[in-house]
Amino acid sequence: MQKIIITGGAGYIGSHTAVALQQAGFQVVVIDNLSNSSVLSLDGVARITGTHPLFAQVDCTDLESMRAVFEQHSDSVGVIHFAALKAVGESVEQPLLYYRNNLDGLINVLTCMSEFKIPNIVFSSSATVYGVPSVLPVTEETPLQPATSPYGQTKVIGESIIRDTVAANAGLNATLLRYFNPIGAHPSGLIGERPNGVPNNLMPYITQTAAGIRPILRVFGNDYDTPDGYCVRDYIDVNDLAMAHVAALRHMLDGATGVSTFNLGTGRGYSVMELINAFRDATGVDVPYEIVARRAGDVPAIWADASLAGRVLNWHADTPLSETLSSAWLWQQNSEK
Ligand code: NAD
Ligand code: WQD
Repeated sequence: MQKIIITGGAGYIGSHTAVALQQAGFQVVVIDNLSNSSVLSLDGVARITGTHPLFAQVDCTDLESMRAVFEQHSDSVGVIHFAALKAVGESVEQPLLYYRNNLDGLINVLTCMSEFKIPNIVFSSSATVYGVPSVLPVTEETPLQPATSPYGQTKVIGESIIRDTVAANAGLNATLLRYFNPIGAHPSGLIGERPNGVPNNLMPYITQTAAGIRPILRVFGNDYDTPDGYCVRDYIDVNDLAMAHVAALRHMLDGATGVSTFNLGTGRGYSVMELINAFRDATGVDVPYEIVARRAGDVPAIWADASLAGRVLNWHADTPLSETLSSAWLWQQNSEK
């Protein structure tokens, strides 16, 4: 069995990827400091797959503790580095926390990979590296723009750190995955997103409002230069996203060298209002909302050209939106129990 280390594996995308990896026959070692997650998600992974991932509660910024885990699992064939803080607004208020956590963590992962000769890394990047794109959809060739938040900067800089490190190390290969907007949960309802406090993101805000935890959804702006005036995003099912990590790893294990970069989205944009309506159609629940002012820093519209991942990785996001929204709702209901 090939072993994979996943940092941040107790988190939202990491736990779904742990399921996909285990179901694809990999042995999974999770490193997580549980700063934004709980071991319950790994219990969920075990209930879905029948196998509990190995788990080390370690902070990626602690190099000595990271070395100890990597030494114990130096037979790993790759690392998927999810561990990061991701709240855009918080990163504006506490930039050094974000730079230290996200960049020291990455540097320590790369240091340990080099010391223990682990050859392949998959990095969680983000559509945020494209800033406000002038041409849609965005391809991997679309020029990157200065990110609008310290969080976004950690992804732009993180990509550069990886490119420079691969260029200097013939034995190291990397895949940079630029996620668009991941939503939904595992169809079992056993794992999903666990936002801390009031959600910043649209999908958990919709499900919490549907559940009555929040009185009303605030829709940020209806006067954008888009077909219906609402912001447009590319919402990708988290299970499809998880499968892309398996495909990216296999691509490197099959011999791809150097750095590869892929957009991970559906290739289709939905407006905020289209998503609210699709949620009602999928679940039968009407979410109360009010239109408020635009949110500072929001990109009016962005969606992916994900055809490169289709051609090279043979990966497509094919879960219908209605299933994704139903899984998000099932998870919301289960997570209250
Ligand atoms: P998440 O917060 O659910 O998962 C991140 C995990 O990393 C958490 O379990 C957290 O406890 C852990 N972690 C954070 N800092 C750590 C550290 N220093 N040491 C060890 N563990 C640490 O977030 P997610 O949505 O699953 O995001 C996973 C990755 O994908 C992140 O890198 C994020 O920036 C990136 N990403 C997320 C989105 C999104 O919308 N969810 C979009 C694009 C990119
Ligand atoms: C989506 C749309 C909002 C909440 C963020 C990060 C990005 C990436 C994904 C990590 C926007 C609108 C939202 C609400 C609303 N993360 N909205 N009411 O902003 O596209 O991306 O998460 O890399 O870096 O910036 O996602 O879910 O916050 O917003 O109207 O209560 O929903 O204005 O149009 P976003 P989001």
